[in-house]
Amino acid sequence: MHIIPADAKRALNAHLWTRHPDDWYVEEHWVDHRLFEHERFEGSVCDPACGLGRIVQAAQLAGFGRTAWGQDKVERSPYCVRVADFLCDEFRGRRPDNIVSNPPFKRAREFVVKAREIAPRKVAMLLPLGWISGDTRSRWLEDTRPRRVLILTPRPSMPPGPVVEAGLPARGGKTDFAWYIWEQGYNGEPEFGWLRRDP
Ligand SMILES: C[S@@+](CC[C@H](N)C(=O)[O-])C[C@H]1O[C@@H](n2cnc3c(N)ncnc32)[C@H](O)[C@@H]1O
Repeated sequence: MHIIPADAKRALNAHLWTRHPDDWYVEEHWVDHRLFEHERFEGSVCDPACGLGRIVQAAQLAGFGRTAWGQDKVERSPYCVRVADFLCDEFRGRRPDNIVSNPPFKRAREFVVKAREIAPRKVAMLLPLGWISGDTRSRWLEDTRPRRVLILTPRPSMPPGPVVEAGLPARGGKTDFAWYIWEQGYNGEPEFGWLRRDP
């Protein structure tokens, strides 16, 4: 048996928690399950930044079967059926009716814009709750006419992918999150609701 010295363990742990270059942060399972329990999606579902595939997995368990699939710019799990940069890609091939994603934070706004160009039904994005109050982001959001904002409680933790892969425990998150949902053709004010880990 190999014994890893405590200093080396601490260094490895610190390394795994550093900012991920592709913004790969993994939401807790309940975050995705609650969405599919609450929100109705008709047709197929794609997550274009699927990482470990938790959203695809939740959609499949909710009854979407093979009409739910994932892609990512890096293949990180078997849920990724295509390796593609969503923001450069022409989205050739199978077009989804709905796009559901936890997008890379640095490119999140571009993901929302592109997803809404592609999906003819709904777009659901996991984004910081603070977007509804920040001056610049809230003005932009207001113009996009979201259908619903579903606030996640308690605050979910979102550790970097390598932490999850190493089986290390998650730490408490510092950011509140919500599912922001857009429905094509909707032009009214958004509704608000809560999705609870412990209903
Ligand atoms: C917040 S994580 C998604 C976590 C995911 N729900 C999971 O179960 O692991 C964002 C993902 O976006 C991917 N990504 C970053 N930039 C991308 C791009 N331009 N196109 C497609 N995927 C991208 C990363 O590789 C990462 O897996």
